[in-house]
Amino acid sequence: MIKVSIIGSGNVAQHLIHAFANENNIEILQVFARNPDDLIDIINPNKIVSDFKYLQKVDLFIIAVSDNSIIEVSAKIPFENCLVAHTSGSIDLNVLNSKNRKAVFYPLQTFSKTKKLNFKEIPICIEAQNSRDYSIIEYVAESISNNVQKIDSKQRKALHVAAVFVCNFTNHLYQVGNEICNENNINFEILKPLIQETANKILLLSPKEAQTGPAKRGDSQTINEHLKFLKNENQIGIYILLTKSIIDNGKKL
Ligand SMILES: NC(=O)c1ccc[n+]([C@@H]2O[C@H](COP(=O)([O-])OP(=O)(O)OC[C@H]3O[C@@H](n4cnc5c(N)ncnc54)[C@H](OP(=O)(O)O)[C@@H]3O)[C@@H](O)[C@H]2O)c1
Repeated sequence: MIKVSIIGSGNVAQHLIHAFANENNIEILQVFARNPDDLIDIINPNKIVSDFKYLQKVDLFIIAVSDNSIIEVSAKIPFENCLVAHTSGSIDLNVLNSKNRKAVFYPLQTFSKTKKLNFKEIPICIEAQNSRDYSIIEYVAESISNNVQKIDSKQRKALHVAAVFVCNFTNHLYQVGNEICNENNINFEILKPLIQETANKILLLSPKEAQTGPAKRGDSQTINEHLKFLKNENQIGIYILLTKSIIDNGKKL
């Protein structure tokens, strides 16, 4: 049985608590939360601590706090030579406080507290400073996911940038589409089969093969009509930038 404690009570921490709760070989000993009310419905209140001094030694501490607080929080763990992993896509392993052994446990997915996920399908990118610690992280990751991958800090940073493009920017474009629908009294629901098919198609085709639309076809009249239609400067800027990127990409071999 591996004992794990989680620090944080946000999106990732809550999903990890649910995922580990279903595993017999992992015990969540404690969860640190500045605000215990965040976790009251999802874990035994006796396991919640709000002061670092009440943390007990475990096989692995998982820090799931905002990127900006990882350095500060890792320094507050009141032990030495324990294994400590953070869950960030963009933060280097080395920023963790040197009094403990450092690792990374980065689940590559978009987590919101209110949206359930099947953790078994979520890639977990792991990294550790030595093979013994790697084995511990790997064991914990494989207990909740069928897709565990060794990814170093440099690769993870690249992955995170790619993830911002395919997830965060794409979602922002949904928001722009939603605004355009609202301004024209159209229910955004009508676009959902298109959104769904766009995501499904990428499972079978490369992004370049899957690209359609006026920029891909070189339909300059349609592009100019769209630019005349748009009134919002921000939307015009995004349209021009992405159109140029699609046209330039089409010219590449
Ligand atoms: N959300 C995702 O989709 C996702 C995906 C993969 C990886 N990650 C990574 O996972 C980590 C957590 O992300 P998240 O989305 O779960 O964030 P989140 O929902 O915003 O939660 C952040 C948590 O950090 C706590 N916290 C912040 N500063 C703290 C401090 N100084 N001391 C103690 N606790 C502190 C917050 O406590 P309060 O509530 O008290 O402020 C909150 O519990 C980040 O490193 C992020 O990059 C996120």
